[in-house]
Amino acid sequence: MVIHDVIVIGAGLAGMRAAVEAAREGLNVAVVSKVHPVRSHSVAAQGGINAALKETDSWEDHMFDTVKGSDYLADEDAVEVLCREAPADIMELERMGAVFSRDDAGKIAQRPFGGAGYPRTCYLADRTGHGLIHVMYEQLAKKNVYLYDEWHVVEIVVEDKSVRGVIALELLTGKLHRLHSKAVVIATGGYGRLFNTTTNALSSTGDGMALALRAGAPLMDMEFVQFHPTTLKRTGILMTEGARGEGGYLINKDGERFMKRYAPKTLELASRDVISRAEQREIEEGRGVDGCVLLDLRHLGEEKINERLPQIRELSINFAGKDPVREPVPVKPGAHYSMGGIWTDVDGKTPVSGLFAAGECACLSVHGANRLGGNSLLETIVFGRRAGSAAAGFSFENKLRVFPEDALKDTARGIALILNRAEGESASGILKEARDAVEGHCWVFRTEAGLKQGLLEIRKLKERYEGVCVTDRGDGFNTELVTALEAGYILELSEVMLLSALNRTESRGSHFRTDFPERNDREWLKHTLIYKKDGGYDIRYRDVVMTKFKPEERKY
Ligand code: FUM
Repeated sequence: MVIHDVIVIGAGLAGMRAAVEAAREGLNVAVVSKVHPVRSHSVAAQGGINAALKETDSWEDHMFDTVKGSDYLADEDAVEVLCREAPADIMELERMGAVFSRDDAGKIAQRPFGGAGYPRTCYLADRTGHGLIHVMYEQLAKKNVYLYDEWHVVEIVVEDKSVRGVIALELLTGKLHRLHSKAVVIATGGYGRLFNTTTNALSSTGDGMALALRAGAPLMDMEFVQFHPTTLKRTGILMTEGARGEGGYLINKDGERFMKRYAPKTLELASRDVISRAEQREIEEGRGVDGCVLLDLRHLGEEKINERLPQIRELSINFAGKDPVREPVPVKPGAHYSMGGIWTDVDGKTPVSGLFAAGECACLSVHGANRLGGNSLLETIVFGRRAGSAAAGFSFENKLRVFPEDALKDTARGIALILNRAEGESASGILKEARDAVEGHCWVFRTEAGLKQGLLEIRKLKERYEGVCVTDRGDGFNTELVTALEAGYILELSEVMLLSALNRTESRGSHFRTDFPERNDREWLKHTLIYKKDGGYDIRYRDVVMTKFKPEERKY
C-alpha cells in the first residue's frame, strides 16, 4: 500500500512550493504530475513577479492596485496577505538561488506592469517563470519529495466529506494506482485550454478543478477568464506585458496609438481587461490588421530588446515571421489566466476536509474579476507556501484513513468503458467543437443570446461525449486516452463557466456583457459559487470581503 502524509497534485510553482513547505516539517510528501515538473506551465511565465521592495513603494499601494485591478471583486483579506508577504517571499526565492535581472545599483530590477501605480515587477529578462521553476525543482530534490511524474490523477477520493488520497494513471504502463494520504493539495493550474486561442500549455485543461468539483468542493467565479492583450495570432503564444512595460506600444492599421482613446492616462499600461476590449473594438470596427493590432517595439532598439526581451524577439521571428527590431508584431487578445477556481481560504483550505488548493486552480479570491500582471507568479509562491504549511498541519493532527478497494474498481470501470468501446466519436473532434463554442460565445464581449447558444452546444457535446472512443487501446503512453479524460474536464468546466457568465447580468473586469455594459455593485458585488448536485449544478453567491477599500469607478 502506498502511503504519504501529503500528496500534491501538479508540479508547477504552486505545487512544488507547497510540497517543499510540507517537506520542511519532516513529512512524507509526494508530488503527482502529468508532466515533468520543469515542463509545467509555470515555466512559460515571462514578465515577472510583483513585490513592494523599495522604500518608495508599500504593500498597501500594491494592495490598492490589486483591488482596483480586480474591479473590486477580490477579497481584501486575501489580497492583504498576498501583498504583505510578497517581499519576504522574494527574498527567500533569492536565498534559494533564484536569479533576477539587476538595476544599476545591483539590486533586483523592477519594471512597470499594467494596472500598477509603481514599477514593482521583479523579473529575469522575459524568462522569469523559467528561472523560478528550475530553482523550485532543485528545492524539491533537496527535500527528498517523492515524485510521480507523468502520472495523471483521475480521481480525488473523498469519503464522509473527508479526503482519503488519489487514484492516478501511470502513463508509462497504463496501470492505475491508489495513493493514500491524509491531505491532498491541488495545484494543477488553469483552464485556458477551454479556448482555441490561448497562451496556456496543452496541459492546462482544468483537471484539478473538475476533479475537485466532482469530489464535493465548490468552484468560484468561473465566469472570469483573463484575455491577455498581446498574444500571437496563429499560436496564442504570449508576448509579455513586459514588452509594454519596457516602452513598447500598440498601434492600429492607421499607425494610431489607439489606447489614448481608451485609457488616456496609462495607455498601454492600463489593466489587461481594458486593453483587450480596446483591441477587440479596433479589430471589430475595421481598424485592425488581419484580425490583429500591432505591437511596436522598434524604438526600443536592438540592444535593449536583446537584453530585456530576448525570448520575445525569438518567438516573434520563429512563430510570426516578424523581427520586432525591424517591424511591428501582429497581436490579439488570447485566453491567458483563470481567475475562477476552487474556493479556498488564505491557507488553501477547501470545504472538503483535508483537501487544499493553491495557485491558478484556486480562487481565494486575490484577483477578483481581473488579475494584474506579475501577481500570478507571486500567488503561486505565497499561497503555495501557505497551503503546504496548512496541509502539513492537517496531516499532523489527523490519522490516515485508507480508502476502500471499490474506489479503484469504479475508476477502472470508467476507463475500461472508454478503452473497450468498439465505435464512437474521437475526443479531439468533440474538443474542437467545444472550443469553437466557448471561443464563439464566451469571449471578450458576451451576450445573453450567445451564452445561451454556447451552453446549448456544450450540453449537446456532453451527451455525445458519453460515446467517446479511442483507436489506441494500448497501455503505454496512451495519450489518446488522456485526451479523452481531459475532454471530460473541459466540457464540465465549459458548462460551469457559461452558466456563471449567463447568470452575471453586469460587466465587471474581464466579464463584459454588451447587454449589461455597466458594473452593478448593488446586485453583483458578490462571488459566484458552483456546486455539483444531482447530475446538475447548484449556484450560490457569497459576499466580497472588504476591509480597506470601497468600490470606486475604475479609470486608467
Ligand atoms: O505578460 C506577461 O508576462 C504575463 C505575466 C502574468 O500573467 O503575470
